[in-house]
Amino acid sequence: MAPPLSRTGRKMGVRFLLNGTAHEAPSVVPTMTVLDYLRGEAGLRGTKEGCAEGDCGACTVAVVRHGSTRAEAVNACLYTVGQLDGARLMTVEGLSGRDETPDPVQQAMISCHASQCGFCTPGFVMALWALRQESVTPDDDAIHEALAGNLCRCTGYRPIVEAARQACRNAPPDRETPDGTMPAPQESLAIGKAIWLAPVTLDALLTLKRSHSEALLLAGGTDVGLQFSKERRHAAVTISTSHVREMRLLKETPDALHIGGAVTISEALPACEQAWPALGAIMRRFGSRQIRNVATVAGNLANASPIGDLAPCLMALNAELDLAGPDGERSLPVEEFFCAYRRTALGDTEVIARIRIPRPADGTIFRAWKISKRHDQDISAVIGAFRVVLRNGLIVDMRIAFGGMAAVPARALETERALVGRTWSENTMRDAGRAMERDFSPIDDQRASAAYRLRVAANLLVRLYRDVAGESAVEVNQA
Ligand SMILES: Cc1cc2nc3c(=O)[nH]c(=O)nc-3n(C[C@H](O)[C@H](O)[C@H](O)COP(=O)(O)OP(=O)(O)OC[C@H]3O[C@@H](n4cnc5c(N)ncnc54)[C@H](O)[C@@H]3O)c2cc1C
Ligand code: FES
Ligand code: FES
Repeated sequence: MAPPLSRTGRKMGVRFLLNGTAHEAPSVVPTMTVLDYLRGEAGLRGTKEGCAEGDCGACTVAVVRHGSTRAEAVNACLYTVGQLDGARLMTVEGLSGRDETPDPVQQAMISCHASQCGFCTPGFVMALWALRQESVTPDDDAIHEALAGNLCRCTGYRPIVEAARQACRNAPPDRETPDGTMPAPQESLAIGKAIWLAPVTLDALLTLKRSHSEALLLAGGTDVGLQFSKERRHAAVTISTSHVREMRLLKETPDALHIGGAVTISEALPACEQAWPALGAIMRRFGSRQIRNVATVAGNLANASPIGDLAPCLMALNAELDLAGPDGERSLPVEEFFCAYRRTALGDTEVIARIRIPRPADGTIFRAWKISKRHDQDISAVIGAFRVVLRNGLIVDMRIAFGGMAAVPARALETERALVGRTWSENTMRDAGRAMERDFSPIDDQRASAAYRLRVAANLLVRLYRDVAGESAVEVNQA
């Protein structure tokens, strides 16, 4: 596909609205991070760099995707300039307007003394600004969730949370969204030697994938983005999945939830939470709001991390993947997708078109727990997911899957066998926990020792029993 030229024959760059004004970034490589672009090219240095890997929130900006009206907080250190094509970008410089009057969020931060060194402050302001755009007055849980991706080392969170309450309380209905019309996203851009391709149909995506075998396939970029931000390494050809119509669909049918291959965690969360509250709880602890707003469910599976949060949940729920390739589509259970450490069954020319999670039969119990050192914004040491069917006090069906216990996310088949047909009791769970050693030989690493992982995994079985029985949970965090 030849890159488009403007009417004057000039090669076009990435076009977006920057703080309400049409903007073009004509000569930067499309996989440059938005943070580098703002600070280095656009002269907007209000957005700060802390960690450059999505962990601190100092770089938070707000993005309204093309065709959406929702402002979402994202980490500028991982988001790329190419992803902005056709979008609106709001940075801290855009808040106070020409008259320099502080925005209500900025005013609340001042009134509540919520800033000292100020390094984290622009990120907090933007995270709160995005929260303020949502339609309801947030409760404290929603405020904490919106701020879980922002670190402050000096001020402490009490005044910041107070500023959030003040700024978002009865926020006026005419919320301050950037004005101006969004430009349409371009399907192809060539900037210097770099090519950015953003197909809008699955067929076009598959054709491009076949003709550019060396291309980098980019979804949210929360994994891949680290190579741009940390290593300053850029692919010659990048294919973005973000505008592929079929992959942006989220569909609920009586028998399944269908999550398109470009649907983000934030987008999938409400439907997942409604069907399986325990899955919703895991998704709410996935990274931070900034990460969930761009990270996709498919990207979390395709990166084949042994400690990814969603694979064990989807395995226990017996979910399937629809893999699309040049010869059509094939379905594969999630548990057959992972072949070896960081290797999947995905062919070179295939993509994950959608994920299908079957609706559970009435009476099916599903629980999942993520064990990590911090509650928010942390990677799992172990994650366990359990789907149970009970009849007349007996376990008639059991699917258990773990992350963090092997080189790939995996079912605990021996443990399942030790449980099916047995009486549903705490003793049964304790007995079956011993089978865990036959299922897994976990690794020792800086996150947890092998012994800890085995102990936690066995304890989670007891926790499952107690949780379902309404009893107090067992301590699972002690080695
Ligand atoms: C700060 C931070 C916190 C994080 N927290 C968590 C966490 O709590 N839990 C967790 O599990 N992970 C976490 N992650 C890891 C990461 O966010 C997830 O794995 C995320 O879901 C990846 O999705 P993405 O859309 O950003 O993928 P990308 O980075 O765009 O891509 C990842 C890989 O998937 C491939 N891919 C993407 N979409 C498709 C598709 N449709 N078909 C085929 N291949 C595809 C890409 O080619 C690439 O190889 C975190 C990452 C960061 C930076
Ligand atoms: S600089 Fe830390 S999250 Fe971006
Ligand atoms: S005010 Fe210094 S890090 Fe928050």
